[in-house]
Amino acid sequence: MTKKIRVGLIFGGKSGEHEVSLASAQSVLRALNPEKYDAVLIGVTKEGKWLTGGNPLKQLVHATQSPLLKAMNGSTSNDTSALVSHSATELTTTDALNETVDVVFPLIHGPNGEDGTIQGLLELADLPYVGANVAASAVGMDKALMKAMFRNAGLPVAEYLVILRHTWEHAPEETIHDIETIIHFPCFVKPANLGSSVGISRAHNWDELTQALTTAAQYDRKILVERAVQGREIECSVLGNDVPLASLPGEVLVEREFYDYEAKYADEQTRFVIPADLSAEQTRTVQELAVRAFQAIDCNGMARVDFFIDARDGKILVNEINTIPGFTNVSMYPKMWEASGVTYAQLIDRLIQLALERHADKQRNKVTY
Ligand SMILES: Nc1ncnc2c1ncn2[C@@H]1O[C@H](COP(=O)(O)OP(=O)(O)O)[C@@H](O)[C@H]1O
Ligand SMILES: [Mg+2]
Repeated sequence: MTKKIRVGLIFGGKSGEHEVSLASAQSVLRALNPEKYDAVLIGVTKEGKWLTGGNPLKQLVHATQSPLLKAMNGSTSNDTSALVSHSATELTTTDALNETVDVVFPLIHGPNGEDGTIQGLLELADLPYVGANVAASAVGMDKALMKAMFRNAGLPVAEYLVILRHTWEHAPEETIHDIETIIHFPCFVKPANLGSSVGISRAHNWDELTQALTTAAQYDRKILVERAVQGREIECSVLGNDVPLASLPGEVLVEREFYDYEAKYADEQTRFVIPADLSAEQTRTVQELAVRAFQAIDCNGMARVDFFIDARDGKILVNEINTIPGFTNVSMYPKMWEASGVTYAQLIDRLIQLALERHADKQRNKVTY
């Protein structure tokens, strides 16, 4: 029998998406084929502490107040525990990481997980890992850099401005005036480096804009202000390295004013339609733009690309790319692949294979001069 592949799952983390990350790790752990893989669990607490001994997934799930997660854990703790063959003790050095796992599946969303920092650590450990490399992760996390790369690649995006907190604080009237004349109302105001809609607001007038900028400035030194697009929200999954493929698109139907934090994680009115009800031509356009967005940031492995269809003119606009999308078995990313004929377990296999392929490809690079 060939040796099992030791897969390190890194989950939790300091971001607002801690719980989602635990749910993703839980789902991946359940779906890993025990004949092929051994799981090594690496949890990061909300305070940023790394947990490697015992069962860090159980420990973190227990620490959250999420009834959903607790229910999930209750139904799966026995079989998943059996999968965890290796109770890693000290994985905080790159050498120890390298000796304990063969490949890593980072499942931490948002800052310190999706932004290239974990990926940098894994590069230093010379380990293959699932998903975007350091640069693509960093660009995908920073909405200002991301939009610049999209624009550079000729992708359609809504009009936007990048405002520094310093500028806003030192020249508030001019800043608002610029936004009003260039972007117009209503507009969306977002901290550049967050996720899950945290710190994002919609502004219809000067007062709301002042409030929105003040809020966003609490989260980041860089703020993105964008024209509010009235229309449908469409998403598409991309999978691959140098030759990426796009899934069938899906649609998010939000009952609230926009797809905010509540709508994402609490509102049961939020609905997902997969595949989205689009014409063949719209589907083709979304898929083509999804692959181009993936390539525009030089992404690898996986990403979910999100779009708007502008009700004004039917134009399809790229909103953002997520390099570590929600990855529970019922999340959009895997669900869109399932609708396209790739099961959750097959998707995990493929992502691990892509990680190993990319690592092998990198070994071809000459490192002596
Ligand atoms: N320009 C925009 N026009 C209309 N709605 C927007 C716009 N930007 C963001 N939104 C709404 O806010 C949500 C979150 O914004 P997004 O840019 O996707 O940030 P996040 O990374 O937090 O998901 C979107 O899903 C959408 O509902
Ligand atoms: Mg989003």
